[in-house]
Amino acid sequence: MEYTFSDRTNNLKPSAIREIFKYAADPTVVSLSAGNPSPDAFPAKELEEISARLFKENPIALLQYSVTEGYAPLRAHLKKYMSEKYSVGTELDDILITTGAQQIMDFATKSLVNEGDVIITEAPSFIGSLNSFRAYNAKLVGVPVESDGMNMELLEEALKNNDRVRFIYTIPNFQNPSGVTMSMEKREKLYELAKKYNVLILEDNPYGDLRYSGEFLPAIKSLDTDGRVIYAGSFSKVISPGMRVAYTIAPQPIIQKMTVCKQGSDVHTNIWSQMVCYEFLTKYDFEAHLDRLRSIYREKAKFCMDLLDKYCAPEITYDKIDGGLFIWCRVPKGANMPEFVKKAIENKVCVVPGNAFLTDEKDETDGFRINFSTPTDEQLEKGVRILGELAKTYK
Ligand SMILES: Cc1ncc(COP(=O)(O)O)c(C=O)c1O
Repeated sequence: MEYTFSDRTNNLKPSAIREIFKYAADPTVVSLSAGNPSPDAFPAKELEEISARLFKENPIALLQYSVTEGYAPLRAHLKKYMSEKYSVGTELDDILITTGAQQIMDFATKSLVNEGDVIITEAPSFIGSLNSFRAYNAKLVGVPVESDGMNMELLEEALKNNDRVRFIYTIPNFQNPSGVTMSMEKREKLYELAKKYNVLILEDNPYGDLRYSGEFLPAIKSLDTDGRVIYAGSFSKVISPGMRVAYTIAPQPIIQKMTVCKQGSDVHTNIWSQMVCYEFLTKYDFEAHLDRLRSIYREKAKFCMDLLDKYCAPEITYDKIDGGLFIWCRVPKGANMPEFVKKAIENKVCVVPGNAFLTDEKDETDGFRINFSTPTDEQLEKGVRILGELAKTYK
């Protein structure tokens, strides 16, 4: 039998990261390619306690079908929490609980983007979102990321030169993969440009609570006075990615449309996970939990940057980070990045080649992404040492 697939999916390629995971699964290979929370970061005992109690008290509520919009107490709590703590959300917004933030990218595109419409993204950007956008045959236009966020002149050019832009996709805090945080000035400018060219903004913020140094910066959504920003929050990096609980706060008509998309997709987010998440947020000290995560990642990030200084300088350069789980590195001058990454794999260390995060993978970059949250300290030291030894061969 010969199979014919839709144009929509013919556009999709297996993610380069998934391909790399094949090597990463080899126990002799050190993987710096994942993006998983540290095994030490999960509140496993608390989640076990909550699950046991909920099963004892009201098992049917956990096991029965539920409503598409999400568990009402969780929605109410998040609305209040996000508004009071971060000024995110107004009375013109609503909230939808989703199955991971990945689903928000899918539904935002499904709701708003016709084939050939343009989505402007940071370059590089998160591959999972790029693939969601590609699945709807959107045209992706990448705007280079600088040390303080997107280049605003090039963003304006992209807005001027493309008349079918539907939204600008941004990860303003500790961007995946670059680790970059957008400055306040650029957040304001981005909002102003979106207003000037009458486009929406999709603000993806899974790492915002993982700031371990520097000053907190307000969300772009907190500047939203005219219903232009779709905010995506997730508990994947701060509680558990396996739980698959995330939420979007956006103008009511957009939430209504996304809710219809969800009805036809997975009906509702796992109610068991939502209830466990709600209990953890409200009956335990969530702020103390976040503090604990920040201290784990502060230490791990410093350890990794010290290793890069020790083993890889000056050949491999990188940008210092203030939060999140990733460090963007650059191959030695004159080295070919894909070849460097291939050699690293041959030497038993996996990193993600930077072009995997570009709107066109054929574009060139000298960057690659490493993750420090998943490997143990021993693995991290071994992996960075191997990268350093490889880098020295380019002297
Ligand atoms: C920037 C960004 N957005 C969204 C996601 C998806 O997260 P979730 O597990 O909530 O679907 C990730 C996961 O790595 C991410 O890095």
